[in-house]
Amino acid sequence: MKQSPIGIFDSGIGGLTVLKEISKLLPDENTIYLGDTARVPYGSKSKETVERYSFEIANFLLKRGIKMLVAACNTASAYAVARLKEELKIPVIGVIEPGARAAVNMTRSKRIGVIGTEGTIKSSAYTKAIKSVNPSVSTFVKACPLFVPLVEEGWADDSVTETIAGRYLDELKACDIDTLVLGCTHYPLLKDTISRVMGKGVVLIDSAESTAAEVMRVLSGNGMLNGSNGGASHSFFVTDSPERFLTVGKRFFGEDLKDAGLALLEGC
Ligand code: DGL
Repeated sequence: MKQSPIGIFDSGIGGLTVLKEISKLLPDENTIYLGDTARVPYGSKSKETVERYSFEIANFLLKRGIKMLVAACNTASAYAVARLKEELKIPVIGVIEPGARAAVNMTRSKRIGVIGTEGTIKSSAYTKAIKSVNPSVSTFVKACPLFVPLVEEGWADDSVTETIAGRYLDELKACDIDTLVLGCTHYPLLKDTISRVMGKGVVLIDSAESTAAEVMRVLSGNGMLNGSNGGASHSFFVTDSPERFLTVGKRFFGEDLKDAGLALLEGC
């Protein structure tokens, strides 16, 4: 059981930012990553659809013997993690609660901004999670749907992206927040741009980092950490075009991805 892999899934490539943080913090853990590249984006889809996709992926990963499931996708975390937690017999971790806790710990003014996909923002999942940690915190939210394609295009540091970020974030700047949650897998790649737009007084919370810490806490709390350090294995599956995943994925993972298999999901 301890040597069994952690299953990590995302709508596509972006969840590699979460995998990167997990493998940095827990270098001995074996992992299996599934990116649902055939059906990305999740951010503009309904709760029912994202929930159904998430269960199909969970079943695929469960058949491969995972000891824990991590929903690296913010939209899947917002829409599907509650039911996955209820129905699966292994620990399930989403990115929303760890990100919300980190933001509440960070804020001094008790004014937190949250940015994410349309689905994540519509679900109010971050606001609910933040309020459940501290009801006196105020949240200010904004969907930024153009950020995902801009990052995938490789334009994270382009002036076009800075202009668009300015347009999206103007209203949050006016809300006097001191903390901003990057509530989407792709946004950690925009840290520099977002930080320039928001100014030095606003701390950016990367849900990927806080999720990795939560994975470690839960594994060690349940005696499930992999003790053997024989070099962890990381396998990758996608539901469409492994080639594109390997090329674009490098930017998210920070190193070369050697191989990705094609996963045939029920319903895909
Ligand atoms: N992975 C998604 C998220 O974090 C972003 C991409 C998508 O819309 O599927 O919400």
